[in-house]
This record gives sequence, structure tokens and C-alpha cells, in this order.
Amino acid sequence: MERVKTGIEGLDELIEGGIPQGSSVLISGGSGTGKTILATQYIYNGGKMYEEPGIYVSLETNLKNIIWNMQNFNWDIRELQEKNLMKTYRLNLGHITSDENVAEKVDEELNVISQMVKEMGAKRLVIDSVTAFGIWFANRGLVRNMLFQFTDKLKNLNCTTLLLTETGGGRREFSAFGVEEFVADGVITLYFTPPHRSIFVKKMRGTNHSKIIHPFQITDKGIVINASDRVLWESIK
Ligand SMILES: Nc1ncnc2c1ncn2[C@@H]1O[C@H](COP(=O)(O)OP(=O)(O)OP(=O)(O)O)[C@@H](O)[C@H]1O
Ligand SMILES: [Mg+2]
Repeated sequence: MERVKTGIEGLDELIEGGIPQGSSVLISGGSGTGKTILATQYIYNGGKMYEEPGIYVSLETNLKNIIWNMQNFNWDIRELQEKNLMKTYRLNLGHITSDENVAEKVDEELNVISQMVKEMGAKRLVIDSVTAFGIWFANRGLVRNMLFQFTDKLKNLNCTTLLLTETGGGRREFSAFGVEEFVADGVITLYFTPPHRSIFVKKMRGTNHSKIIHPFQITDKGIVINASDRVLWESIK
């Protein structure tokens, strides 16, 4: 099986060398746990270390957080953009009130992303975040329906995708809508129990992954995981 290296210190060794090529992995965790940093690092390393083009799709009101992270960690986003190794895209579905326009709008946006993937030959994709889809929908049923369609169609792009999802932060919470963890091929959860940060690979299809929780730090180089150390389950709130 081909694997896509995240290049994040300590992470690849928890998952037999990398994420199975073509899969979708959910990165879940409470607010401020490091999801955006991890995903930015995945795209940045892809371009910088492996010359693999990547697209960062943001649903947030603006893209400044990604730019901040890049500057904060001295990652040269402009260089990657000039070499066509990184693109950012702001996704917007507008207001959705019925099942009918869900499919249509999701398709429109997927077509744009698909076009970008083809043009730059993207191998890596990030959706930050699937939780933010919620703001466009009148009810949870519609969000679930859309998430199924969206993640299913994303598979056809043949990218290795990180889907970010914000949870309440509890140790048994792995998704916001209760469906993301089932449609994804992998689930990685980040915890922040001040002052300690930790990471847990809950699932990774086709992979004999680590079954324990590992401490990590956010340093001036981004996320660094201590793969040889463990955190006790009971110590996480
Ligand atoms: N240079 C740095 N050194 C150490 N920690 C940092 C640094 N930059 C950011 N952080 C930490 O990372 C946190 C932000 O991480 P990130 O934006 O990835 O979280 P997130 O999980 O995406 O949150 P949200 O759900 O709100 O989007 C900050 O709150 C801060 O604690
Ligand atoms: Mg974020």
C-alpha cells in the first residue's frame, strides 16, 4: 500500500509510515487543540519536502488563520504558491433550506475543487472544517445528508484528504455531527488538557496504528509528537 507522509515529526511512525494514499482522515478535537496547525503543516510539508501539490479549503470567514500559522512558523507560503505547490480556496455554499439545493450546491463547489485538483495535480487536500458546514443548514438532517454526499464524492478526486471537525473536546467525542467518523477511513483526535496536549489515532483503515495516546507540543516548527511517550487515558478530561 502506498502511504502519504505527513512529514510531521512523530506522526508517521504512529501510522506505519503515513496515511494510506487516497483515504480521508478526520482530524477531530476541541477548539484550539491544533487542528488547523496540523493540517497546514501537512500541506506545507507536502510541497516543501515531497513536492506534492496541495489545496487548503477553508470554510471559515477568511483565510487569515492559515496565513498567520505560516508566518508564525516561518513557513514560506509565497514560495509554495509560486511553484504551484499550494493553493487556498474559500468554500461558500450560501444559505441552504432544502434537500434539493444541497446536492446542487455541493456539486458546484466540488466541481470547482475538482478543477483545481486537476489543474495543479494536487495530491493532498484539507477541508477546514466540516463542522463549519453546519452554519449553512437549517437542520442536522440536512448536514448529515450533505456530509455523506460530500465525502463520498471527494473520494473520486483521488487525493489524500484531511477533514477537520470540531468537537466539544471530551475524550470520547470524535465528531460534531456523529457521522464524520463513520464516513472517514481514519480518525485522529487532538486533546488539550492545559497545559498538556496529546494525540490519539482512533482508527486508520489498513494500518496497524498506535493504540496509545501520545503527548505533543506546538513549537516554533509547528506540531512535534513524542511517539515514544504515552499519556494516560484517565488524565484527559
Ligand atoms: N507559535 C506557537 N507556539 C506555541 N503554540 C502555538 C503557536 N501558535 C499557535 N499556538 C497554539 O495553537 C492554538 C491554535 O491552534 P489551531 O488554530 O490549530 O487550533 P484549532 O484546533 O484549529 O482550533 P479551532 O477549532 O478554533 O479552529 C493556539 O490557541 C495556541 O495555543
Ligand atoms: Mg482551526
